[in-house]
This record gives sequence, C-alpha cells and structure tokens, in this order.
Amino acid sequence: MDRTVQLASRAAQHPIAYDPPPEPDELHLGAVRVLEDNWTGASTVPSRSLYPHQWSWDSAFIAIGLRHLSPLRAQRELETLLDAQWEDGRIPHIVFNPSVPLDAYFPSPDFWRSSTAGRAAGAPRTVQTSGIVQPPVHALAAWLVHCADPLLSRARGFLTRVYPRLAAWHRYLLHRRDLGGGGLVSVVHPWEQGMDNSPCWDAPLARVTPAPARSFRRADLDHGAAEDRPTDLDYGRYVRLATDYRDREYADGASEFAVEDPSFNALLIASEHALSRVADELGATGAARRARAERLTTAMLDRLWDPTEQMFFCRDVRSDELIPERSVSGLLPLLLPTLPRGTADALVRTTRGPHFGLGSSTRLPPSYDLLGEAFDPHRYWRGPAWFNTSWLLERGLRTHGEQAMADALREAVLDIAGTSGFAEYVDPHTGEACGATGFGWTAALALDLLHMRPGHGVSLMGDGTFDSSDKGVRGGDRA
Ligand code: SER
Repeated sequence: MDRTVQLASRAAQHPIAYDPPPEPDELHLGAVRVLEDNWTGASTVPSRSLYPHQWSWDSAFIAIGLRHLSPLRAQRELETLLDAQWEDGRIPHIVFNPSVPLDAYFPSPDFWRSSTAGRAAGAPRTVQTSGIVQPPVHALAAWLVHCADPLLSRARGFLTRVYPRLAAWHRYLLHRRDLGGGGLVSVVHPWEQGMDNSPCWDAPLARVTPAPARSFRRADLDHGAAEDRPTDLDYGRYVRLATDYRDREYADGASEFAVEDPSFNALLIASEHALSRVADELGATGAARRARAERLTTAMLDRLWDPTEQMFFCRDVRSDELIPERSVSGLLPLLLPTLPRGTADALVRTTRGPHFGLGSSTRLPPSYDLLGEAFDPHRYWRGPAWFNTSWLLERGLRTHGEQAMADALREAVLDIAGTSGFAEYVDPHTGEACGATGFGWTAALALDLLHMRPGHGVSLMGDGTFDSSDKGVRGGDRA
C-alpha cells in the first residue's frame, strides 16, 4: 500500500486528535501562568530576565501553544512579529521593545542599527530590530493558529493578511540565501539557526577572528549561570560575524560563515507545506508550493543525508563538506510526512541508538551526541535537551506511525516541563533545569501537548489526517 494511504488510514481511525484536557491540573495552570506573565500586550517574551524582547522562532512556537488559550492572542503574536518584517522579506530574529533599557540585553538596538544599516534592505522605520533571521516556523504556526478557530480567523481576515508576508519571507530565504547553489537555504550566523553554540559550528567558527572581549559587554551572564551559557570566545565570534554583516548593510552573499542546516531547511519545507494549505484555504492553488517542498526535500536528501551515519548533517558551504558532528538538528527532518520510509526508519533507529539514547539513557533528546567529545549536559546547545526540539521530534515520531515512542516522549516532556519550572533547557539524563525558568516556548509547547490525546495518529499539520494533496510521499528507500 502507498505510504501516504497507510499513514492516512492509521490516522483516520482517530480523526479528532486535539481536545481540551478533561481536568485542567497544576501543570496546565502553570503553563498558562507563564504565558500570562510573559505577555507584554502585543507579544510574548521568551523570558522576563534573559530575553526581554520578542524573538522570531520563539514567537512561532509560542503561538502554537497560545492558540489553545486564546486564538486571538496567538494571531496577534504572529502579526506583531510580521509588522517588523523588512521590505526584502526577512523576518528579523529580534523585535526590540523600546521600553526595555538598552543594557538589559546584548546586542541591543544600538548594535544592530536596523534603521540606518538596514535601510537598503528595507528595515521598518517604526520599530527597531536585529538584522539576522531565525528558523522559518512561522507559516506552520500561522496554519495551526488558523485551525484552532477557523471562524475567528476568517472573520478577522487573518490568513489573507499574513499570507503575502509569509510568501515574501520564504522568497527571501529561497532567493537570497541559497549560498551553496544547491537549492537549500544557508544561515550566516549561529544565532540564525538557533542552536547558538552547537559543536556543529566549531569548525566553521574557527575561521572567524573574534571581536576583542573589551569591545562589548555580555548581559546574559547577569541572568544565567556562566557554565550554562556559551563561552566568551564564542561570543567574540558571534559579535564579529554580526558586526561584519551589519557593516555590509545586511547584504547577503559574502559571509565568512555559511552553513546549510537540516532543521532550518526541514522547517522551511514544513512551512511550505503549511503555506500550500493556506493558499488552498484562500482559494488559490497550493500546488506550486507542494512541488517546491518536494524539490527542497530532494535537495536536503542529496546534500545533507549521510547513509553511513543514518542521519542528516550540516554542510559547511565555504569548504563544501559535511560537518561530522551529530546534532539533534540532524534528526528533525523526521517531522516531514513526505520523507522516504527508509530515511524515516533510519532516523528513528538513530534517535534510539547510543548517540541520542532516547528511551534508554536519556529522558529527552539531547541537543548533541552523547558520545561526542564536546558533549556537556548543561551548556546551552552542546548537550542539554530543549523543549522545542523535543516537540518537533514528537511530531515526527507520530507522523511516521511511532505512536508508542511519541507517547513516551510526550509524557517525559510534560513531566519535566512541570518539575523544572518550565525551564529553558534541561540535563537530558536527569531533567535538571538549566538556563532560565518560566520559559515561553516550554510552557506553550507543553500546553500544546496537553491538548493532544496520546495514542493518536496526528500529522504535523495537527488535523489527524494526511491531506491527499500531500501525496508527495516518496516510496523510495534512500536509507
Ligand atoms: N540565543 C541568543 C541569545 O542567547 C540570541 O538569539 O541571546
């Protein structure tokens, strides 16, 4: 039987996959309280202490949870972010809140200088932003937010307003960021991919001369333990890359650092699928977007899949080589329903295997290889488990019919979200809290999983079925 039909019929046995939890409990209340506390009136901060502005991919994940609490607020969250979009289509990774003191977060607006250095790229005049981007989770979030209350969404013209902006965002990535020439999007800064100090960046970052330590002051160490955060040497290199990009007026192409990352590209593919549904909903046709998602999937398999190691790797565009470090990023393409069956099966095996240990040595998937030399269970993206990657992997497992594993991961996420005080990240073995607590996407994604009945086959698009238009499912066994 065709893989799509197989999965669809399994999912169709459980057509209603989302539901309010029967008795809101302490965990539910705690998650809602975090989202209330972090709401500023127009958007949600990731953390009141460490990250006091609006972050791009945080807002997308937060909207996915907020839709259960208030679909209206979830729409607002995304539209506030989109109001800061640049004319060239980029969605900046931070939208600054003007009422927060400049020294509360580094790099602050006077570092990025969006209104002057970003003028050529069309930075908005009404609000100050950074000039780099973050993973494109937004179209997926917009579609899920719409599905939470289609009537309200239609009445407010939500999709009609966001569709052209999301289309421009994807156009920017596909046209300005194909730095490797193979059809995939490159990131030009580790902050863009979101896993700031992942060991995947060690080799490409080693070529970057760090900015002198005395030229900037880190604000993150006022709020987070130094051993949980990136090192000063990492920061020197982050600052150098961002300064050079700003001084080139945010023109793309010349960056010393250019990497094709599996999770960034997988999220773009998922968002293209979501955007195809938005197009269909608005009476246009989503066929071209589905075809583009297919082409991107093929490019990702050709450029980033390693059949020997049975997972995806980052490609360093400047050396044109795969970076031989195992990151959770290399497992996340599992969220794509159109992945070949052999590839999906291989990713599930790798997730369970000794490098990630899910279901045996770890409670949540570590951000980096348990057996890697650089593994550190507490230092940001060099080993700790994060809740957004756990949620994406849970979606992927469920999408590919691994219900028991997905149910166990869901349980672990909910348990550890509660016991850690909705931590930013945790020790993957023990669940011990690291970084900030009261973290926005941890609460939001726990809320999303609370609203999902365990044991159900539900697609990434959250509707319990695979749309017949997703029939791009590839039968070939590429693993
Ligand atoms: N994650 C980065 C920070 O720690 C920037 O987006 O501030």
